[in-house]
Amino acid sequence: MNYPSRVYITEVGPRDGLQNEQAMVAVSDKLGLIERLLQAGIRHFEATSFVSPKWVPQMSDAQDVMAALQAPALAALLAPATVSVLTPNMKGLEAALAAGAQEVVVFGAASEAFSHKNINCSIAESMAMFEPVVAAAHAAGVATRGAISCAVGCPYEGAVAPAKVADVARMMNAMGVQRIAVADTIGVGTPRAVQAALEAALQHYDIDHVAGHFHDTYGQALSNTLAALQIGVNHFESSIAGLGGCPYAKGATGNVATEDVVYMLHGMGIDTGIDLDKLVDAAALISNVLGRQPNSRVSVAMLNKRLASNGSK
Ligand code: HMG
Ligand code: MG
Repeated sequence: MNYPSRVYITEVGPRDGLQNEQAMVAVSDKLGLIERLLQAGIRHFEATSFVSPKWVPQMSDAQDVMAALQAPALAALLAPATVSVLTPNMKGLEAALAAGAQEVVVFGAASEAFSHKNINCSIAESMAMFEPVVAAAHAAGVATRGAISCAVGCPYEGAVAPAKVADVARMMNAMGVQRIAVADTIGVGTPRAVQAALEAALQHYDIDHVAGHFHDTYGQALSNTLAALQIGVNHFESSIAGLGGCPYAKGATGNVATEDVVYMLHGMGIDTGIDLDKLVDAAALISNVLGRQPNSRVSVAMLNKRLASNGSK
């Protein structure tokens, strides 16, 4: 099997991870998490979303999070990293540009029903909404990424055909979206289905511009990551401590944990540039804030090992 020698991780914890929490997480805690992630070697992360605060109240502090990132103490850590944010429309884009985002994400879906639930419009209407966002981002020198939600299954429509993923990838490519993520929003995919969805996206993007974004509802996300690696995918979006979910995707749970992906990749001799021990520190920090254990087998195992070795000293 010809695996890539290097894999690129986009950390989505501060955004996907925290958008689905019941309680608001303080800006200072979000910043603490981002600082730990940067210390662990994360170089690309979703900081927040510029979306309607009525739709996702957890992201209503987007401006404050972005302003806090300007702290001089963070400057050196942040310098090599790309700060990415979600922007569904021009209102979001304008706020994101003013806040200094370096990459914006337009988020579409391969399922009509989910598109309506998540962004209140059809797939075709969403493409018309994204087009000026992408053009204005590029005019401002800001990079663009597209998410294709429900690429394997939809909570409202059931199984989603790969051809639907190809359609959205084609439309995103035509409007100039630079890279895309194929997202299993509700974590129902299994390896061959996920490969088929990725291959559909690969009809319109080359392998270096397609990422896997897998939620772990049915415990398949790490297997799906391996399946994606097997067809050459070398970019994954994952969430610290396995946090995450979309408030408009009924039943969806967290993303695959970044720690679990990194542990697997390092075990396979694949470089990520990430320090796993420090990543576990980030997971421990946010899990303390949220008052529960990380939803990551690797973090739990490593934290237990640390406790045992501290206890035996
Ligand atoms: P709408 O209600 O149709 O829009 O929502 P509207 O234009 O009628 O605006 C409604 C109100 O929101 C207005 O305020 C606007 O000003 C305001 P009001 O006049 O009532 O006071 N508004 C905004 N405020 C701040 N920033 C904005 C913005 N836009 C409008 N950008 C809309 C349409 C797209 C805005 C809404 O549906 C929305 O914000 N949806 C976001 C849903 C969301 O964030 N979902 C989670 C992220 S996607 C995800 O998690 C999946 C992913 O992880 C991949 C995967 O796993 O699948 C990426
Ligand atoms: Mg997601």
